[in-house]
Amino acid sequence: MKVIKTISEMVAWSREIHRAGKTIGFVPTMGYLHEGHLSLIRRAKALCDFTVVSIYVNPTQFAPHEDLARYPRDFERDEQLCRSAATDVIFYPETREIYQPDHFTFVGTEKMTGKLCGLSRPHHFRGVTTIVAKLFNIVQPDCAVFGQKDAQQALIIKKMVSDLNFPVQIDVAPIVREEDGLAMSSRNKFLDSKQRQEAASIYQTLQYVAAQYRKEKPDFNQLKKEAANFLNNRAECQIDYIEFLDAENLEPPAADRPVLMAVAVYFGQTRLIDNIVLS
Ligand code: PAJ
Repeated sequence: MKVIKTISEMVAWSREIHRAGKTIGFVPTMGYLHEGHLSLIRRAKALCDFTVVSIYVNPTQFAPHEDLARYPRDFERDEQLCRSAATDVIFYPETREIYQPDHFTFVGTEKMTGKLCGLSRPHHFRGVTTIVAKLFNIVQPDCAVFGQKDAQQALIIKKMVSDLNFPVQIDVAPIVREEDGLAMSSRNKFLDSKQRQEAASIYQTLQYVAAQYRKEKPDFNQLKKEAANFLNNRAECQIDYIEFLDAENLEPPAADRPVLMAVAVYFGQTRLIDNIVLS
C-alpha cells in the first residue's frame, strides 16, 4: 500500500493505472475510519481493479464555530485499517497542498442544499462538492463509493456528477450500524457513556416510524410529532430536524415514491445524523 501526499504524485499514479487499462475505485473520507468506511472500501474493491482512499479533513465544509479543530484524527490507525482492507493507495494531503492561499473557486449545487443539514450548516455542502470535485480531478477515479449514512451528501454528489459530466460512476452503500443500531460515525467517540447508550434510540425512532408508516396512510406532520416524542422520551438530546422528503430528489414526499426520513440530533455538542428509506 502506498501513501501519497502530493497532487502531482497522485495524478501520475492514476495516469499510470489508466495507461495500463485498469480501473480505479475511490473512497473519499475524513479519516478516523470505522467499519462503515471499510464497507465502502470493500465495495470499491469489488467494482474496480485498484482502490484509492483519501483521508483529508476538509476545512471548507466546516463553519468557524464547528468541530474542525477537534475532529478526531489518527492516521496510524487509519493506515492499518486501510492496509487490512487491502487498499492500494491512501491519498493523504495537507491543506497547503489542496487549497492555495488565493483559492476562490467553489462548486455549489442549488436546490438540494438548502434543506436538512444545509439549513443548520449553510456552507457545508458547498465545501463538500468543492472538495469532492477537486478530489475527482486529482484521483481521476472510474467509480466512487459514498455512504447512505450521509443521504443528502450522496444525492448532491450524484447531481453534481450528472450536471457537470464527471466521468465517474457513483455507488451508494448501505448504513453500517453498531449492534444496538447506532449508525457508525467518527463523531460517536465524543459521546459519554450515557449519551452513547441513549443514542441507540435514534435508530429505534426510525424503526418505530417505519412500522407506523407500513400500517397507515402517512400523515407526515403527525409522524414527525410522534417521532420527536418517541425520541425525547428515551434520550436527553436536542432535535435539529426530523424530516420526510422524496428519497431521490429531496422534494416534498409524493405518493408511490420512496420517502427519506432523515434525522439530526445533538447529544450535548455532538451532532449525529441518521436516516431510513420508507417505501
Ligand atoms: P466521512 O464522514 O469520513 O465519511 C466518508 C464516507 O463514509 C461518506 O460517504 C459517508 O457517508 C460514509 N460513511 C460514514 N459512516 C458510515 C456508515 N455508518 N455506514 C456507511 N457509510 C458511512 O463524508 C465525508 O467524510 C466528507 O464529507 C467527504 C465526502 C470525505 C468530503 O470531505
